[in-house]
Amino acid sequence: MSENKVLFLPDDVKVKIPVGQTILQAASKAGIVLRGACGGGGACGRCRVQLKKGRLSFAGTGKLPPEESEKGWILACQAVPKGEVTVFAPESSRLSEHRVLLEGRQAGVLAATAEGVAEPAPLFRRQVVKLVAPTLADNTDDYGRLVWALEHEYGIRNVRISRQVLAELPGTLRESDWHVAVELAVVDDCLEIQGVRPAAGQVSVFGLAVDIGTTTVAVELVDLDTGEVAGTAGAYNRQAAYGDDVIARIINAVEMPGGRVKLQEAVRETINGLVTELLETRSLDRTQVRAVVCAGNTTMVHLFLGLDPTYIRLEPYVPSVNMPPPVKAAELGLEVNPEAWVYCLPGVASYVGGDITGGVRVTGMAGEKALTLFLDIGTNGEMVLGNREWLMACACSAGPAFEGSGIACGMRAIPGAIEAIRVVDGGFEVLYNTIDNRKPTGICGSGFIDLLSSLFEAGVIDRSGRFVPGLETPRVRGGEEGREFVVAWAGETGHGADITVTQADLQNLLRAKAAVFAGVRTLLASLGLEIGAVERVFIAGGFGRFINARDAITIGMLPDVPLQRYKYVGNSALKAAGLGLLSQKVWEEIKEIARRITNVELSVGNKFMEEFVSALFLPHTDIKLFPSTQKGT
Ligand code: FES
Repeated sequence: MSENKVLFLPDDVKVKIPVGQTILQAASKAGIVLRGACGGGGACGRCRVQLKKGRLSFAGTGKLPPEESEKGWILACQAVPKGEVTVFAPESSRLSEHRVLLEGRQAGVLAATAEGVAEPAPLFRRQVVKLVAPTLADNTDDYGRLVWALEHEYGIRNVRISRQVLAELPGTLRESDWHVAVELAVVDDCLEIQGVRPAAGQVSVFGLAVDIGTTTVAVELVDLDTGEVAGTAGAYNRQAAYGDDVIARIINAVEMPGGRVKLQEAVRETINGLVTELLETRSLDRTQVRAVVCAGNTTMVHLFLGLDPTYIRLEPYVPSVNMPPPVKAAELGLEVNPEAWVYCLPGVASYVGGDITGGVRVTGMAGEKALTLFLDIGTNGEMVLGNREWLMACACSAGPAFEGSGIACGMRAIPGAIEAIRVVDGGFEVLYNTIDNRKPTGICGSGFIDLLSSLFEAGVIDRSGRFVPGLETPRVRGGEEGREFVVAWAGETGHGADITVTQADLQNLLRAKAAVFAGVRTLLASLGLEIGAVERVFIAGGFGRFINARDAITIGMLPDVPLQRYKYVGNSALKAAGLGLLSQKVWEEIKEIARRITNVELSVGNKFMEEFVSALFLPHTDIKLFPSTQKGT
């Protein structure tokens, strides 16, 4: 037998997988995204499923405690079916209901309005021309006649045509009485004529803007004729089964047999699922999708294109390519028109990708005088500082704490996550909000920033992030891993257990916030600038949306500048992909931004490490850097 079957409950979904593949891989194939924080290494224990029927063998050393094993619980990443099996995948082991950041760009919104694309010129467009029929006095060749008309009616030069399209040209021109729509796609520095069709009876054409995030993927379907958003959809990146962060994904892609193919397949399936959903609900045919623009970090782009990501994580951190050439959709297996070109926004370095260059374009900072800081905070804190004169970027590893990983009660920003917290009455009382007002089941990144800030302000922890000795509140107690603070008591929570933050968690959070601030200071210092010089701060990304800037300043994570200088720009990667799709000019501007950005490698020299160590206090070793926290403003 070359295949095994796995039935997943309660979904009642059955899939076939090649012999030797794990339950985790089967789940991914079934569209069930199990948590795989350690990338299938058997270490995190988050991919638990329960065997209901059938037999398994175990591929690795990862195991669950005996009392759980006796009840049939197994680690999906370690279990290989022997024949047909049935497993139950509980909610707690799944990535689900994540708030994918779509920015509420509902159908009908002009995708490019806000960002000022004055003259839309999509990367795929149609131009209608009425040619003068040839005569004996004017017997110019058909192609020459078409090229002349494009130039004289639309100023379009520098076109190219394939032999296949050329072969059909004479017939089409005459059958349509010389009135045709010319399909043009931007490729490199010219326009490729992808088809010539009768002008009458044209159907609408669409493009896709895709944000390929490490955690989530968001897709916007855009009408290329009107520039309107026709629909949006988002989902978890199915690569999540191969690890939470880019490093785990690279390791899996490089070291797992067939890893690169599997990771490419996972993200392709994620995108195809979203595209199918968008097209089916609007009764559109996939051939109507004629261009795709993707924005992602450098690793995501490599894995999507099937490129070798090995050297991204190895010193001196060199990607295969920063400005990937366009690739035909058919080559990538995207379920759109096979002739559609797929464009990826250009990046700058291994850890400063197209999502960041696109974000810079969306803010407009590259064309303005004001000194601006652009921040995208996730597992990596990526940032760009500059203005119309210069642009500098860096990426610091903030760790997964703000994404809810690596912390006992941490979770992503999904319903039930505590997203805002106030510790009052000297630490006796805690007020909190959860996403969708559900009973709390954990704390997400923005909640942790609030918590750190509140515990500090309430005097529960000191400047080094340690619990102050001798506190009377019952919320501070000894736990299995030392002292801990109870954020929510078991009776209040959605899972019936206390939600706590331990001393080790606090140190993790402190390191994460210190890395972000140290990155900002290192960029500023490389130009001899102080924090006060920053005139605007743009925060991007899903996490940024929920950050309380005041609290982030209180803990010394964000620079202490007046709050009115802060602005949230949302999913700037998706917006940039949409803009690039609709405007060749914007596309060129993003390429120019990528060329202009100087990447600062933080591992070179001691500056970043010095700044990091100084930032491991609340708010900082040098209190003068955070004057507003002293004034109580
Ligand atoms: S234990 Fe299975 S993914 Fe971590």
